Amino acid sequence: MKYFFLSFLFIGAIIVSAFGTRGSKSEQPPLEIFPDMDHQAKVKYQAASEFFADGRGARLPVKNTVPMGFDIPAKAAAAGASPAPFAFTNGLDYYNTGKMGDFYGDGLPAEITGDPQVFNADFLKRGEQRYNINCAICHGTSGNGKGVTSKYGILTAFNFMQAGALDPANAAAYRADGAIFDVITHGKGLMGGYGGNITVRDRWAIVAYIRALQTAAKEAGVTLQ
Ligand code: HEC
Repeated sequence: MKYFFLSFLFIGAIIVSAFGTRGSKSEQPPLEIFPDMDHQAKVKYQAASEFFADGRGARLPVKNTVPMGFDIPAKAAAAGASPAPFAFTNGLDYYNTGKMGDFYGDGLPAEITGDPQVFNADFLKRGEQRYNINCAICHGTSGNGKGVTSKYGILTAFNFMQAGALDPANAAAYRADGAIFDVITHGKGLMGGYGGNITVRDRWAIVAYIRALQTAAKEAGVTLQ
């Protein structure tokens, strides 16, 4: 009985000390069991820093930086500067959006096909390289949707080799060129957008390469499965 009361008191004291002060206010910093990243060496906003020659902690953007989504000012553009290749606001034409009005277009835009400097064998090579860098991890080197990430849980990456992938009447399997372009720019569903990483011209090169993959498979008699 004695031990019962002693252990009762002991447990009671532990419970009160652990939970008794919950809700009460204190000037002291809280007890941090996992401090995580609360405490780290960093320059606070508007603070000085001896690390930089000018003694300022806050840094100015690098010269000529253009924020994402902004156009280069008209003056620079007039002076012959090319428009920001990554921006989403270059224009509303087919070349920049993959859309004609409200609908996805099909076929490569004239800005590509009309320029022999751009539209040559190197264009497809470029597309292959960009595809393998940006898309193959999920969509597979062959385009079958079974890239290396399929082993780690990304199971729904679109399969460019499925039956009907070259048949515009097959809405489930076919994606128009402009639709692929738009998905690269903005992403769709579980896929993130790559507009900030891949220039407009490279996006079209990837579209052309995906078509090449599909056509090659078809010509080789590999049924688009
Ligand atoms: C991190 C993985 C990942 C990468 C990298 C990736 N995708 Fe995807 N993609 C997906 C997933 C997942 C889906 C299915 C999205 C959904 O339906 O929710 C998808 C869907 C698509 C679709 C079909 C969208 C539709 O209309 O249904 C296209 C086209 C596509 N991707 C093209 C590309 C291209 C081109 C690249 C390279 C620039 C790329 N993806 C890079 C994961 C990825």
